[in-house]
Amino acid sequence: MTGNSVIGEKGGFAEHAQNSFTLPSRYYTDEDIHQQELCKIFQRSWLYVGHISDLPEVGSYITDEVAGQPILVLRAQDDKIQVFFNVCQHRGHLILSGRGQTGNRIVCPYHAWCYGLDGALSTARLTRGVADFDRANFGLKPIQHTIIAGMIFINFNPNATPEDGDLPEFEKTILSHLPEMPNFVAGHRFDFDIKANWKVIVDNFSEGYHIPIAHPTLATLYDEKGGASQIGKRYGFYQKTAKAGFKGFETKGGEPYLTWFLWPNLCLLSLPGSPHLIVLRIGPNGPNQTLEHADIYSPTGADVPNLTAAKSLFAEMFNREDIALVESVQRGLSSLGYDQGRYVADAKGSWFSESGLHAFHKQILEDLASEN
Ligand code: FES
Ligand SMILES: [Fe+2]
Repeated sequence: MTGNSVIGEKGGFAEHAQNSFTLPSRYYTDEDIHQQELCKIFQRSWLYVGHISDLPEVGSYITDEVAGQPILVLRAQDDKIQVFFNVCQHRGHLILSGRGQTGNRIVCPYHAWCYGLDGALSTARLTRGVADFDRANFGLKPIQHTIIAGMIFINFNPNATPEDGDLPEFEKTILSHLPEMPNFVAGHRFDFDIKANWKVIVDNFSEGYHIPIAHPTLATLYDEKGGASQIGKRYGFYQKTAKAGFKGFETKGGEPYLTWFLWPNLCLLSLPGSPHLIVLRIGPNGPNQTLEHADIYSPTGADVPNLTAAKSLFAEMFNREDIALVESVQRGLSSLGYDQGRYVADAKGSWFSESGLHAFHKQILEDLASEN
């Protein structure tokens, strides 16, 4: 079957959550759909790649593989952030690896072509006799980026605008709740290899319906009543308030418990008790496999008691509970005994509802159906 014929079949999925069946299970297991998602969703959306504090000085760099593309983010001589494909323009070797400090030039490890931090090719050994060779045509290929609250987002589509990704909306709420976010520093980084499709992980993050059942400790942290939610096309935000007397770390009660989702794969969480942001990047790695990067940013990156406790609760309890859930769901989605369930959604799109999940799936289907 071709990708397109599979993509066209939506079963009982409908416009409104209350009438709709969930996304057919093949969307979580099919290799063709996975490839289409990389082209039509990831390679056209704003993707988070790091925070400006991850690149503290001229020559600092990060490499990564994002949506199947090798990328290089660095701080150039003018102190500006630059983003390139991490690919040498001689024969295609990747030019840097990991993260670190490259000094004031980038040297390819294969034949030592040498680039400036602005991406221009500065020297290419033994090329004097190469006919019509102009170094100016062999600079690193740039990727457009934008910086929102200190967070660096890239887009492989050079024509995409921040408005296409609801970034201005996101910037407003993140800065209103965490005004110091542009100065935050990463104190902890975790990587989780998860045996589930990337959407199962975003799905799980998009609804609080499972929290009282699957996260009994987390469920005691906030007040079930009240709170606020905002669901946009490519953006979701939920706010709850902390209850006093949580056993995991000190809370006075009334402090905000915040979560954001930014299309397609960024999930953010700020627990009460200390200023911080847990940034989860859900990186697809095949239809049944995902690499989740979790970076925890806070005012100095240093441990303070409440932050240390929040970090351990996240990494050792809440996220571990979620990984067990999503890996189990992936096995069920791959079974002959399941195709589509129903959304449990209220009209207000409240925290305990699966309205955000439906909005996410609607956008998946819309983007996959687009022509190019
Ligand atoms: S591939 Fe980089 S110098 Fe040859
Ligand atoms: Fe969860």
